[in-house]
Amino acid sequence: MINVGIIGCGKIALTRHLPEYSQRQDCRVAAVYDPNIERAKNTASIYHAKVCTSAEELLHLPNLHAVSICTANVFHAPLTLQALKAGKHVLCEKPMGITLEECIQMTETAALTQHILMIGHNQRFTKTHQKAKELIDATAIGKVLTFQTRFSHSGPENWTIDRQNNWFFDKSKSSMGAMGDLGVHKTDLIQYLTGKEITAVMACMDTLDKKRPDGSPITVDDNAICIYRLEGGIIGSMTVSWSNYGEEENSTILYGTDGVMRLYDHPSYSIVIDHKDSTHEYYQLDQIQTNDHQTNSGIIDAFIDAVSSGKSPLSSAENVLSAMKAVFACMDSARTGEWVSLRQK
Ligand SMILES: NC(=O)c1ccc[n+]([C@@H]2O[C@H](COP(=O)([O-])OP(=O)(O)OC[C@H]3O[C@@H](n4cnc5c(N)ncnc54)[C@H](O)[C@@H]3O)[C@@H](O)[C@H]2O)c1
Repeated sequence: MINVGIIGCGKIALTRHLPEYSQRQDCRVAAVYDPNIERAKNTASIYHAKVCTSAEELLHLPNLHAVSICTANVFHAPLTLQALKAGKHVLCEKPMGITLEECIQMTETAALTQHILMIGHNQRFTKTHQKAKELIDATAIGKVLTFQTRFSHSGPENWTIDRQNNWFFDKSKSSMGAMGDLGVHKTDLIQYLTGKEITAVMACMDTLDKKRPDGSPITVDDNAICIYRLEGGIIGSMTVSWSNYGEEENSTILYGTDGVMRLYDHPSYSIVIDHKDSTHEYYQLDQIQTNDHQTNSGIIDAFIDAVSSGKSPLSSAENVLSAMKAVFACMDSARTGEWVSLRQK
């Protein structure tokens, strides 16, 4: 039996980590911690877990094998490092860290301690994205030339447990806004789907609309538009936004030499391929998880399978690191207004 601890008992822990761990027979939620002690106690009572009064107490429980880190972004790296050094396997939510140096240190510490460090990049695990990767690898649309990927919704105040008074809007807790929340997913996804790394970025990020409850603007970006150049000459764009007050968007379109592949872009089919000869291929495999519609993410299954087998998971720190390099390069580009090459990094 794999005993798991949860650090941070907010929305993602309650909607994804806790229920998905408890669906498995080979693991149990053994301990929880949250600085909001009432929240920790309520969570513990549902899952029959021990309540810890500090992260340190939880991380030093002798019979605890693994932890999920589900806190505000700035705590991801320090807690992950503490956990790995305390001998625990770690599933850390995205964004992996708030600086490239943190992400490198996390990856190196996982290798050194020989523990699993997986990042919560659930987009890699959807049936549609897995099938799309298989089809792209089999040259279903020929050579990929360009892409558009987008992820937008009405903002974290409509998601997080603390609603308007959330940490996402506070740079000292989140470090990045829509880019860190949504952009990390699509940056990682496009590299995963194409099998190519981002080599250069140009980005524009701004705070266009979001206000704190007192009417002052939030201190992180609420919109980011990025142009990516990938190995092999692929170019494409990523748009992420917290100010989409219509239907949530979470789609990717890839344009190849032999056709076009649309992912989560059609009301009835999760993959549509428009072949160059005007024929079409359709797949309905799943629906993308939205803030209001959560389905099994596959993340927890992959984490527990990795812990049991000792095999590196699909969204290991090592696999996600290059996407984080591109994310931080976008932040540099948005500051300077210039292209940033990742070849020099
Ligand atoms: N993979 C995904 O698709 C996805 C979706 C949503 C959120 N997330 C990530 O999950 C993390 C948590 O987001 P959320 O939406 O659950 O936020 P949330 O505000 O709903 O919950 C965060 C919880 O962490 C607790 N917390 C804050 N500081 C802590 C600390 N130092 N130690 C322990 N607990 C602490 C808070 O009290 C709160 O209960 C974020 O990093 C976010 O980016 C990932």
